[in-house]
Amino acid sequence: MKRNSLLAVVGVAILVACGTAKNSGTAKVEALPTQADVDRVQTKFPGYTLDELYQGKQLFEANCNLCHKLKKPASEPESEWREIVPRMVKKVNNKEGHHIDEAGQEKILRYVITMGSVEKS
Ligand code: HEC
Repeated sequence: MKRNSLLAVVGVAILVACGTAKNSGTAKVEALPTQADVDRVQTKFPGYTLDELYQGKQLFEANCNLCHKLKKPASEPESEWREIVPRMVKKVNNKEGHHIDEAGQEKILRYVITMGSVEKS
C-alpha cells in the first residue's frame, strides 16, 4: 500500500516535469485558440465562434508576415489594432497574389483582439 502510493507520487512528479518541459519547449508558439477565448469576448463580439477565431488566426498567419515577422496579438491594445489592421490589410492587398476582403479583415481584427486580451500570468 505504502509502496503503491509512493509510486503514484513519483509518477505524478514525472508527468508534471514532462508537462513543464514540453511547455517551455513550445513557448515561442502562440497559444492555440480555445472555446474559453471565444467565451471571454462573447459580450464584445456577440455570436462569435471558435471557427471564426481559427479563420482569423489562419488569415493572420498567412498574410501578416510578408514584410515583417508576425506581431504578437498582445503587442498592441485593442484601440491600436483597430487602427493598425485596416492599414496593414491595405498593404497586404497591394501585394500580388494576396487579397483580404472586409470579412477577412474583421476576422483578423477579432483574432488579435481576442488573443491579445489573454491575461498574462
Ligand atoms: C506590404 C508589407 C506589409 C504587410 C503585408 C503587413 N505589414 Fe505590418 N508593417 C509594415 C510596415 C512597413 C510597418 C512599419 C510601419 C508602417 O510603415 O506603417 C508595419 C508595422 C506593423 C505593426 C507595428 C505598429 C505600427 O503601426 O507600425 C503592426 C502591429 C503590424 N505591422 C501588423 C500587421 C498585420 C496584422 C498585418 C496583416 C494584416 C501586417 N502587418 C501586414 C508592412 C507590412
